[in-house]
Amino acid sequence: MSQSIYTRRLKRVKKDLLSGQSSAVLLLTSADQMLRSRNQYHSFRQDSSFFYLTGLKYKDLALVLSSKKTAPVIVARKKRPDLVVWEGKSHDIAKAASDLEADFIETDNPEKEILNLIKDHEILHFQSTPASLGFRVAAKIFGTPSYERPSLPSSFVDLEKLLTPHRLFKDSHEISEIKKAIEVTFKSKRAVLSKLSSFSSEYEVKCALEAEFLSRGCKTAFSSIVAAGQSGATLHYEHHNRGLKSGETLLIDCGAEFNCYSADITRVYPINGRFSEPQKIVYETVLAAQRAAIAVIRDGVLIKKVYEAAADELLRGLVQLKILKGSLQKLRKDEAYKSFFPHGIGHSLGLDTHDLGNLRGNTEARLKKGMVFTVEPGLYFNRAAGKAPACGVRIEDDVLVTQNGTEVLSKQIPKEIAEVESLVG
Ligand code: GLY
Ligand code: MN
Repeated sequence: MSQSIYTRRLKRVKKDLLSGQSSAVLLLTSADQMLRSRNQYHSFRQDSSFFYLTGLKYKDLALVLSSKKTAPVIVARKKRPDLVVWEGKSHDIAKAASDLEADFIETDNPEKEILNLIKDHEILHFQSTPASLGFRVAAKIFGTPSYERPSLPSSFVDLEKLLTPHRLFKDSHEISEIKKAIEVTFKSKRAVLSKLSSFSSEYEVKCALEAEFLSRGCKTAFSSIVAAGQSGATLHYEHHNRGLKSGETLLIDCGAEFNCYSADITRVYPINGRFSEPQKIVYETVLAAQRAAIAVIRDGVLIKKVYEAAADELLRGLVQLKILKGSLQKLRKDEAYKSFFPHGIGHSLGLDTHDLGNLRGNTEARLKKGMVFTVEPGLYFNRAAGKAPACGVRIEDDVLVTQNGTEVLSKQIPKEIAEVESLVG
C-alpha cells in the first residue's frame, strides 16, 4: 500500500494547524497495550487516528506534527535489549518514518523528546484516551501551574476536533477497505448460517462467526451480538447463553475488521428457516423502515429526516400489529414508536465502528457526500405485544452518501424474507 496516502493526510492536517492565529502542535501516540490480567495483555490494536495518519500498526510510537516549518516527527521508544529475546527485534520504524517524509527519533525517554518537540507552541491538540502516553503528557502539562511551564502549550484541544472533518469523509482507499470488511462479514455469515441447525446456543454461533472472520484474515470489529428470541430486545446483548429454539428469530449484529476498517451489519433469521406470520409482519415493517430511510439519504439531508422516514414506517407496522392505536398523525406527534425503537437511525462507520463525527443519535446533523453511515432501524419487544412475539428485529446496512442518494456498500447481503430464509441450513 502506498505510503503517500498517509503523507498526504499529514500534509492536509498540517494545513489545518497552520490556518489558526496561534502556533499549534498535534501530539498523537500509538495505542497503549491494554492489560488483561497481571502481566498478560490484550492483543494490540492500533489507535484509529494514529493509523489514519501514519498507517503504522506498531506500539510505543508518537507522532508530533507542528504548524511550524518542520517535518512531522515519529518518536519511537527504544526496545530494551533484554526484551528482544521475548518480543523479537523492533520493526524498521526509521524506514517507515522516511516513507512518511517524517523525521525520526529513537529514544529511551519518549516523554522528554515529546516535551522538547511541543514546546514553543501555544495550542496542543491531544488525544482524549486516558491510557495513552499522549494524554498523560498533556494532562501533566495541564496540571502544572502555568508559571512553571512558560514555553509549553497553554491551550489544550481534543484532537478529534481537528481530525473529524478528515476521518468523517472517506477517500476511495477507505471505501475499498470498508468494502473488504463487508465482504468478509458477508461470507462469514453465509458460512455460519448454512449450518445453523448444527448449533445449539447463541454462544456457539458467535464463536463460529468470529472464527470465520479470523480465518479470512480479519478481526472482529466489536463483540458480535447473537441474540435469539427475546434476547434480541437487548440492544447490546452480551450474555449469549440462550439456546436456539425452533420458532424463534436470531438477530446477528456483527462486523469484520479489515486492516483496521470496520463493517457493521445486522440481519435477522428464522432459526428453523421459516418466519411465522407475526414475525413476518415485524420483519417487513423494519425492512420497509430501512428502505424508506435509505431512500431519503442524499448529500445534505438532515439525519432527522432519515430517522423520521423510518419512524413513520415503524408506526404503521405497530398499528398493524395491534400494539398501537390511533391516528398516525397523533402517534407521530407523541413519538409513540420510541419505546419499541429506542435508538438512533445510524452512525458514521470507518476505522471505528462508531466513527468520529458524533452522528449517533444526533438528529440535527446533516449527512454529506463521502460519509459512510449505517442505517439500522429496529423494533424490540421484551415480551409479546399485540401480535408480535418477544423478539428484536434490526436491519442494518452500511451506506456511502453520494450527491443524489447512496451506494449501499453491503448490498450483497440478502435481506428479503425469501432470501434470508433460504440462507438458513
Ligand atoms: N453494531 C453495534 C452498534 O452499532 O451499536
Ligand atoms: Mn451499528
